[in-house]
Amino acid sequence: MKKGWFLTIEGGEGAGKTTLIEGLARTLRARNLRVMTTREPGGILIAEQIRGVILDKANTSMEARTEALLYAAARRQHLVEKVKPALAEGIFVICDRFVDSSLAYQGYARGLGIDEIWSINRFAIEGLMPQLTLWMDISPEAGLARIHQADNREINRLDLEGLDFHRLVREGYMQLMESEPNRIIRLDAEKTAQEVFNNAIEIINQRFKGLYESNV
Ligand code: TYD
Repeated sequence: MKKGWFLTIEGGEGAGKTTLIEGLARTLRARNLRVMTTREPGGILIAEQIRGVILDKANTSMEARTEALLYAAARRQHLVEKVKPALAEGIFVICDRFVDSSLAYQGYARGLGIDEIWSINRFAIEGLMPQLTLWMDISPEAGLARIHQADNREINRLDLEGLDFHRLVREGYMQLMESEPNRIIRLDAEKTAQEVFNNAIEIINQRFKGLYESNV
């Protein structure tokens, strides 16, 4: 069976994940790779429904462990219905957020504990981890300023968290990177979109050896 490539993109609000993912997909496709971009609910009906509950601005009473379990449940469904079949076909999968988001947001920033969040996510993902994770690091001040400038972007329940929360998210990602330096690579997301893209593609080219040969 062919085996695909699994790349995840992580980062705080306003880091530019969407722009980077679009650029990477365009470039990799231009080199004849089959690429699938997705984000966690990923158009999977059950996962979209779960996400709707999590992000609903009316759900201010949502308890932290409930939120963590819902993210893990949505992740499971998306992984099984969409990511796994694509990888089995040899597709290059780029996913906007994955398990590290739960570890940084719920485990670290919400204070549930990274180990606790790992345990429910281990159950959800059954060992299917990305080969590479690019963490787009931006200061919360700069990230939130970008979000508020872009008036076409929807503001969700988590965007409404204060700066302190987003600082914790960043610290969480930093710890994750330190504990898995081979898998998680930091990109300086305060640079221009072009510079960030150049850094990312260089890392991908180094990391995924044989990437272009496998699809010609
Ligand atoms: P989204 O609109 O996807 O934000 P972004 O464009 O920044 O990715 O909203 C997802 C929000 O959910 C975002 O604030 C991060 C948060 N989140 C978690 O807290 N835990 C998770 O496991 C995931 C996947 C997302």
